Amino acid sequence: MTKVRMELGDRSYDIVIRPGVLDSMKPHMREARKCLVVADRNVAARYLDKVTARLTESGAVPFTHILAPGEKHKTFAAVEGICRAAAQAGLERKSLIVGLGGGVTGDLAGFAAAIYMRGIGFLQIPTSLLAMVDSSVGGKTGADLPEGKNLIGAFYQPEMVIIDPNVLNTLPVGEKRNGLAEIIKYGVIMDYTFFADLEASKANVTPDVIAHCCRLKAEVVSADETEQGRRAILNYGHTFGHAIELLSGFKLSHGEGVAIGMGMAAAMSTRNNLWNKEEEKRQNDLLLTAGLPFRVGGFKPEDILAAMYHDKKKAHGKLTLVLPVEIGRVELFKDFSDEEILKAIRSCCD
Ligand SMILES: NC(=O)c1ccc[n+]([C@@H]2O[C@H](COP(=O)([O-])OP(=O)(O)OC[C@H]3O[C@@H](n4cnc5c(N)ncnc54)[C@H](O)[C@@H]3O)[C@@H](O)[C@H]2O)c1
Ligand SMILES: [Zn+2]
Repeated sequence: MTKVRMELGDRSYDIVIRPGVLDSMKPHMREARKCLVVADRNVAARYLDKVTARLTESGAVPFTHILAPGEKHKTFAAVEGICRAAAQAGLERKSLIVGLGGGVTGDLAGFAAAIYMRGIGFLQIPTSLLAMVDSSVGGKTGADLPEGKNLIGAFYQPEMVIIDPNVLNTLPVGEKRNGLAEIIKYGVIMDYTFFADLEASKANVTPDVIAHCCRLKAEVVSADETEQGRRAILNYGHTFGHAIELLSGFKLSHGEGVAIGMGMAAAMSTRNNLWNKEEEKRQNDLLLTAGLPFRVGGFKPEDILAAMYHDKKKAHGKLTLVLPVEIGRVELFKDFSDEEILKAIRSCCD
């Protein structure tokens, strides 16, 4: 078993990673603690019984709430549905909401936990690769509005995160790639050795790889929980990537968008001598090994730039870009002209 500690003062918690943990865990529960386990239909069909059985063995009293799967159901109405289920089950301040599933479920369940009775206990059991290495760690919770993704939410940390890598056996391949884009991202932004290990293993995902990503994210989050500065490095590839996801009408997945965005950011670094061509090639080769694209066809570069300006992460009308300066290190740049950004985008468009 691997334990990664998220250090956040009196809100610190453990991230536990162990294959098979869902068959054996006994999370310590105050006597007869009420829990609402939230899962989408796909995950519930496979893992809900197991989790409620473990909770019952731990002395808890579990209730369940099933969500419709998919980003289009990541709505305020879904959050209300969770809160109402909590109220109907009689959950009170000391009770617990359990998010069992991918990032959509975790974000919704966490947001409900943050606002139900002004905040109750929250436990994350991520089941997608992306949720294991990214969304379940760090306390960002929320939902989408018709006006844009993740426009509402709260920073709300769980009491614990429990990861069973065995559940990845049932995860569709396309979903696995979304997680891989974030895994490669960690290597490029902050850990050369990890990047080189991924190259050597041909991007093989092991429990150690998952644990290491949690460790890296925990390090960034504990230094800057609410994204005043350093946490922004996690957006590497995302400003370009979100724009491309949006323009494709979400036909391109988040992982594909981020990978193409990493391709564009890398090209920008090479063009401006922030790093060298060989480093750009190493990043792109690893993306390719993981089955991810780093170029895109069918879009006008000008439209991609315009969509980037719609991203909520722009500061004072200027785009802040996270660009690599070597494999394992990125910096934030605010002063590139639109023309320069456009040139980099163009060089990655077919
Ligand atoms: N909070 C954060 O810091 C943060 C970070 C990154 C992304 N996110 C959010 O995460 C969401 C994306 O998460 P996601 O990619 O996990 O999407 P998701 O939750 O929609 O899960 C993807 C699909 O895989 C299925 N699934 C999950 N685990 C499975 C398993 N073990 N076996 C079979 N099927 C399984 C789900 O039912 C779903 O259909 C987005 O809404 C994004 O905004 C949040
Ligand atoms: Zn992402």
